Amino acid sequence: MVPPPARRARSREAEPVRPRTASILAGRAWIGGRLQPVEIAIDEDGRIQSVGKVRVGAPRHDVGDAVILPAATDLHVHFRDPGGPADAESLATGTVAAALGGVALVGEMPNTLPPVTDVATLEEKAARVRGHAAIDVLLYASPTVARERVALARTAGAFKLYLSPTTGIAAAPPLDSVPGLLRELAELDLPLSVHAEDPGRFGAPERPRDAAEWDAHRPVPAELAALDSLANAPVRLRLHVAHITTARDVARLRERAISFEATPHHLLLSVRSAPGSLVKVNPPLRSEAERVALWEAFRRGEVPCLASDHAPHPAAERSLPFDRAPSGVPGVETMLPLLLSRVRSGEVDLPTVIRAACDRPARWFGQPHGRIAPGHRAHLIVVDFRSRTKLEGKRLHSACGWTPFEGWEAILPREHYRDGVRVVDAGEYVGSPNGRVVRPEFAHGKLGRPD
Ligand code: DOR
Ligand code: ZN
Repeated sequence: MVPPPARRARSREAEPVRPRTASILAGRAWIGGRLQPVEIAIDEDGRIQSVGKVRVGAPRHDVGDAVILPAATDLHVHFRDPGGPADAESLATGTVAAALGGVALVGEMPNTLPPVTDVATLEEKAARVRGHAAIDVLLYASPTVARERVALARTAGAFKLYLSPTTGIAAAPPLDSVPGLLRELAELDLPLSVHAEDPGRFGAPERPRDAAEWDAHRPVPAELAALDSLANAPVRLRLHVAHITTARDVARLRERAISFEATPHHLLLSVRSAPGSLVKVNPPLRSEAERVALWEAFRRGEVPCLASDHAPHPAAERSLPFDRAPSGVPGVETMLPLLLSRVRSGEVDLPTVIRAACDRPARWFGQPHGRIAPGHRAHLIVVDFRSRTKLEGKRLHSACGWTPFEGWEAILPREHYRDGVRVVDAGEYVGSPNGRVVRPEFAHGKLGRPD
């Protein structure tokens, strides 16, 4: 019998060349349901190679008692670039703030100037990411221009649909046109995030003077009505609802197996929290009772994603009378640190926060990171739970220079590794602007509906 040399040679050739171990990060991590000592081997390509005891002699960094976590993904930021205002944010300043807050990837919204409704504008924004962004950026496009939709689906990272007017969005499509649009978008396979408020339910007072009146003007029923317009969305559509504000939204969306996110400001602040225009946001902050119910749902692990809706506006505009102030609060740098502080105080479990901030959002965007697992990109952070910081807007890194969480306690990451390379050291940014534009890497159907 003639041996099959060709086949053997081919199979030897096909054997993948295993990248060498470049470094080892040692510390404690949440693995297998508990915090335990681990050594994480990171290969030359910046991927996690193994998690456990490592014997090779690559450079080893031991973080001692600190905890190694996956870096977060923030599904929802507004970096005002292009179009400004520059004293609110840019891709450069916003991504450095994100890196310092432990965020490895942001989804950047299309309500910049001009709005991202066509491929040329999207590509112009993508060109601004390269050479300026400290972390990866997934770009949303708006699907409002029918003839651009198919081409945008091939170039953008996700779609964002506004069902109500808000910053940079003068008009929204009529709610009765939404089901048809959703059917069309379902064929295009891109994740779709929806700003769900029905302007038909907005009401008195027309000129709100504070957060409580803003809540009355854009009330909870406006959100629930908008959610109802999504009820018959095709199962194939990767549908996600942005910034839900109440436990009732949580129950409804879970019933319908629709993905969604909640923001730190809706989880931690209510209409009673701060005076003036500091807490004007769309959808509005709700009553303290609504907030507590939402927080309880989050604690129970019922909120799949945490997202900041980082929407900075120039500090000067915060002192405008409430009805003239723009809506939106910054939050990309403080999202995870605020929640980690709640872990420290025992109000929420670490795995619940990791799942909502790191794992689930990365999977929603079809990205290979968000877990401490072999094959994942080594986007990791190191957190010392003993090191607490009082947040001060002027010490944060967003260009806007303010935070609605002034004086709140937070736990900022001590270190941040991007593809295994340290970009934050001792709480200082030490990286370079090598962030890339990413798109979902999944084939349709692989990620499936939210779990
Ligand atoms: O409060 C908000 N601000 N809500 C939005 O939907 C947009 C955002 C912004 O871009 O300022
Ligand atoms: Zn937003």
